[in-house]
Parts: sequence; C-alpha cells; structure tokens
Amino acid sequence: MSGEAAPAFPRRRLGVLISGRGSNLQAIIDAIADGRLDATIALVVSNVEGAPGLARAAEAGIATLVVDHRAFPTRAAFDAALLAALRAHEVELVCLAGFMRRLGAGFVQGYRHAVLNVHPSLLPAFPGLNAQRQALAHGVKVSGATVHLVDTDLDTGPIVLQAAVPVLDDDDEDTLAARILAEEHHIYPAAVGILLDGHWRLDGRRLVRLGP
Ligand code: GRF
Repeated sequence: MSGEAAPAFPRRRLGVLISGRGSNLQAIIDAIADGRLDATIALVVSNVEGAPGLARAAEAGIATLVVDHRAFPTRAAFDAALLAALRAHEVELVCLAGFMRRLGAGFVQGYRHAVLNVHPSLLPAFPGLNAQRQALAHGVKVSGATVHLVDTDLDTGPIVLQAAVPVLDDDDEDTLAARILAEEHHIYPAAVGILLDGHWRLDGRRLVRLGP
C-alpha cells in the first residue's frame, strides 16, 4: 500500500490552541487525569485574552500563553509566533480546540500531519462556521462531530474519528450543538490517543489504522 507513515510523538507532548470556552480542552485534561489518555499538555495558547479556557488550563497547572493575532501584521507572522511558542515548549502534536483562526501553510508544514481539529458536523458536510445551523437549515436527520488532521484548506484534512447524533424535529441550534458537543468530548481525547500511539498511516486522504 502506498502512503505516508505517521510522524513520531516520542514524548507525547501536546499543545492546545483555543479561542474561547475550552470544553474540548477540558475533555483532554480530564482524559489525561483519568488515565484514559497518556499525554502531557505542555502549553495552552489562546489568541483571545481572557478566553475562559485559559482559566481551565491554569486550574490544571498547565502553562498558558496569549498570542493576539491582532498584534501581527500578517497571518504568516502570527503563525510563526505560534510555531515558535509551541516549539519552545517542545510540543509534538497540536490540538485545535475551538481555535477560531485559520492556520497557514507555514504552520501546517511546520507540524506536518501533527495538527488536529474538532468540528461540529460529519465532514465533509457543513465545513466552516455555524455547522449546526447549516445542518438544521439543510434538514439533515443525522449530524455529528469529526476529529481530523488539519491541512491548508478549511476542515478538509484526513478524518481520524467521527461520531453521529440524530437531529430531532424540535432541535434548535443550542440543543443540537449540545448533543454534538457531548460526542466531541468523547472522540477528541480518543483521536489524540490514536495519533500519539502511531499505529496509523495515510493512504491518500484515508487515515488507516494498523495492527490488530
Ligand atoms: C466546538 O463545537 C468545536 O467543534 C468547534 O468549536 C467549538 C469549541 O468549543 N471547533 P470549546 O471551546 O471546546 O468548548
């Protein structure tokens, strides 16, 4: 089979990028604390000062940093500052968790096949903002959550895990988002574990798990 081997994550060091609430960050913190995920969060970075997720990180004793994108003249300069901070903390795998900035090619190539994102739809349906609103507007009966590797396009990288939820007739954006979020909190730590364990390869767009 042709394809690309998984990168190595020998020290299982994570960097988590957030912009807001940080409930997926909390799910990763909790999975590590419970022994469900063998990893260390080396750094949490927010592009938004005062993001509630920063307090969750501080509460867990994790180093935090604010890198405000507005302080940089270009996307590339912001990306370079993020890369430098993550490298300084010896981060091996970057987890986007409600991080509301697009990352450019320089960043994605700097952490090749080592940036994960969680998205509140069954990709490739409903990429981009307001995925739950898009799902309701389209009238789908099933939606869900996706954890995927990040490439240079929006919400297009190879899929690691997905979980489906029903869309109910009386759902609004909030009820559907809550049902999806509960699944995000299960599959994100699980996907991080899959990546770190390294028993996978990329066959084109397909992330194929190896071994028994
Ligand atoms: C989640 O719905 C995630 O799928 C999307 O942004 C939201 C982040 O929520 N990318 P939280 O900050 O992790 O609570």
